[in-house]
Amino acid sequence: MDFVELGYEYSLNVPVIDKQHKELAKQLNNAIRHCTGKKNDEKKFYDKNMRKSIAFMRNHFETEEEILCKTKYENFNKHKSDHTKILDDIIKMNDDIENNKVELNLFYVTAFIKERIMKHLKTYDLNTKKYFIEGNEKK
Ligand SMILES: [Fe+2]
Ligand SMILES: [Fe+2]
Repeated sequence: MDFVELGYEYSLNVPVIDKQHKELAKQLNNAIRHCTGKKNDEKKFYDKNMRKSIAFMRNHFETEEEILCKTKYENFNKHKSDHTKILDDIIKMNDDIENNKVELNLFYVTAFIKERIMKHLKTYDLNTKKYFIEGNEKK
C-alpha cells in the first residue's frame, strides 16, 4: 500500500489539477520508499529532489490560483494565504537543512509535507470543487 493514496473522492473533476495532485502523491510515495535509514542515500535523494518538489508545489499553487481568480470564490484570499504559508514553512525547513542547522530526517520531512498537503487538499481544495470546475471552463 502506498503512503499517500488519492482515490476518486479526491478528484476535483479538473484534469490539470487532479494530475498535479496525483504527481504530489507520487513524489511523497517515492520519498517514503527512500527512507532506508542509510543517511548518505537519504541525503542524496533529498538533495536531488527537494528543490524540484518545492518548484512543483509552487507551480501547482499558482495553477490553482489562476483558475480560482476567474471566479467569484469568496475565500480566494484565505485559500491563497494557505498556499503561501505551506510553501514558506517548507522553504524554511529546507533552508535549515541545507544550512546544516537541522540534520535531515527524510521520514520526518516527508511526513511533514504530507500532513500539510493533505490537510490543505481536504479543507481547501475539495471544498472549492465547484469554483475549480467553473474557473476551468472559462478559458
Ligand atoms: Fe491543490
Ligand atoms: Fe489549494
